[in-house]
Amino acid sequence: MKNLIILTGAGISAESGLKTFREMGGLWEEYDISEVATPEAWKRNPELVLRFYNERRKALLGAVPNAGHYGLVELEKYFRVRIITQNVDDLHERAGSTNILHLHGELRKSRSTSDSRLVYDIDGWELNLGDLCEKGSQLRPHIVWFGEAVPNIEIAIEDAEQADIFVIIGTSMQVYPAAGLIDYVPRNVPVYLIDPNETAIGSNRPVEIIRKKAGEGVAELIRRLISIR
Ligand code: OAD
Repeated sequence: MKNLIILTGAGISAESGLKTFREMGGLWEEYDISEVATPEAWKRNPELVLRFYNERRKALLGAVPNAGHYGLVELEKYFRVRIITQNVDDLHERAGSTNILHLHGELRKSRSTSDSRLVYDIDGWELNLGDLCEKGSQLRPHIVWFGEAVPNIEIAIEDAEQADIFVIIGTSMQVYPAAGLIDYVPRNVPVYLIDPNETAIGSNRPVEIIRKKAGEGVAELIRRLISIR
């Protein structure tokens, strides 16, 4: 089976009702990144940071996977699928995809502020000041904030290098290092992009564009990929 590497962003979860970041009405229009998604914000106002992610988690618990997520599960019948996601939601998991790498962390997990190896599932939607790890330190959201290292990027780069087919779905390709993964995909490998809007990928290689929302776009992708499997 061929290696199908798929990079997803907030757009794949849009049809599940979760807000994207950079579109009109997106999260970064409503909130200032530096106030809620940086280590400095956590130091300055941890309550606000926790509230921001609690709201995201609450929305996530009320959401369900959409046809886009389910379509990627179907592709596992034909390809060795690896999903590299920038999303912190768990909709790929809940849809049934089996090989997922989270680049920016996971919303439904918390992590110790004194020992980053201590990661826990969050029961329900709330994480609060006073919630402690087994060593007695405050727990923080298990999210990669702006200005922090992306621990899984090396694994993602190796995946990109091994791609036989590379697919990009629902990401504005504005955030590095994730957006740079395309540079590691071998030149002869076909690249597909699903997005209803125009996006500027920082690469001049040929890309087959499916200008549709993820639900319909993934169905179209499946039709095209089955012919080259
Ligand atoms: P963005 O909000 O930057 O981009 C979302 C993309 O999804 C845009 O290109 C939209 O056109 C597209 N889109 C919208 N609706 C769609 C649909 N129904 N189907 C398919 N695509 C659709 O989100 P990301 O690129 O994921 O990081 O953002 C990258 C990172 O920036 C996030 O992981 C997050 C954010 O700050 C952290 O919080 C660390």
